[in-house]
Amino acid sequence: MLNRSIAACFAAASLVALPVQASEVEVLHWWTSGGEAKSVASLKSSLQKRGVSWQDFAVAGGGGENAMTVLKSRAVSGNPPTAAQIKGPDIQEWGELGFLASIDDVAKKNNWDGVLPGVVSDVMKYQGKYVAAPVNVHRVNWLWANPEVFRKAGASIPTTWADFMVQAKKIQDAGYIALAHGGQAWQDNTVFEAVVLGVGGAEYYKKAFVELDMKALNSSTTDEVFKVFGELRQFIDANAPGRDWNVATSMVINGEAAMQIMGDWAKGEFAVAGKNAGTDFVCVAAPGTSDGFTFNVDSFAFFQQSDVNKQSAQKAMAEEILGTNFQEVFNLNKGSIPARLGMARAKFDTCAHDSMNAFVSTAQSGGLVPSFAHGMAVPGAVAGAITDVATNYFNSDTSPADGKAQLVAAIQAAM
Ligand code: GAL
Repeated sequence: MLNRSIAACFAAASLVALPVQASEVEVLHWWTSGGEAKSVASLKSSLQKRGVSWQDFAVAGGGGENAMTVLKSRAVSGNPPTAAQIKGPDIQEWGELGFLASIDDVAKKNNWDGVLPGVVSDVMKYQGKYVAAPVNVHRVNWLWANPEVFRKAGASIPTTWADFMVQAKKIQDAGYIALAHGGQAWQDNTVFEAVVLGVGGAEYYKKAFVELDMKALNSSTTDEVFKVFGELRQFIDANAPGRDWNVATSMVINGEAAMQIMGDWAKGEFAVAGKNAGTDFVCVAAPGTSDGFTFNVDSFAFFQQSDVNKQSAQKAMAEEILGTNFQEVFNLNKGSIPARLGMARAKFDTCAHDSMNAFVSTAQSGGLVPSFAHGMAVPGAVAGAITDVATNYFNSDTSPADGKAQLVAAIQAAM
């Protein structure tokens, strides 16, 4: 995702010193929806209790593409924030460019290797040292449903893609929007990812979309994936283009639409609206994915600072993030589950319990896979190529065979 040639020009540039305020962190993130903002507020207030003040650097835009663009320009000008929401393989790229600060002493002191699952801690390290702290684990392959709309339409919640088409038609015939969707590239790709896992299964998903195995990508499974993905076009409404994901969630909340396929940050919106899991809304694995788990870990990476006050503020932030109290409060608001192992479950709802159980069982079965739609699976250039193909396909009448050919060509060009 980072442009290495530009990066080379500025990597050597020294950081510009900012006016210093004792113990302050400036934090870049993209959490601006109702549930997201509540989650950020909990981080801000936990830090304030430690005497660390918070300078908010929010860049709106679901999925974080806008935020990453702004981060790059701040870094290029030698003025990166204290910490930024950076995920997955991008952490390595920023590490390679020499921007990130080690917080390994905090990690050692607090036994992060012992309290984090390996699949999470591996991503937080650059050259064996922690440079980022994980706040959560999101499961992306969810379907959110309004049970009242299903009742009124005489439909049942689908567990396979074939059944999805049948039930969605019933909902549409009853006068509701079957699938609430926001026509933005990352949302198209989020739905595409659910179809990939549901149609192809975890082995195909890993071969094709993590290992980028050309045989798997060229297989007939990919034709089937595009066929099913294309069939979903008929179930979204004409106003979808450009719609934010949380607006799509609100359509399910208020009964205008029956379903949304979205990661469990959507649950944060149901929570803010005062809705309860199991009664007001239902969460089930996206069709065909009940034995799979596409994981998406949000984390904050720390940028090198010359000022010692800022360095100690970073360490306080890192320590706070992995604290049990913060992990609980933050994740109750965010819809995700704690990144930290061994947390008490009592305050979490049934969706979170399902996610916690599935995280453990899929780690054993092989169904636990990194989300390519949320920057966890492949380098940025490849992730961008997949997003482009998915969104172009979904917003045209491209045939499955052409979709597959475009995917293969785009991935090959980006590798
Ligand atoms: C994801 C991120 C989530 C959520 C979502 C929508 O990429 O991991 O925390 O914020 O975007 O903005």
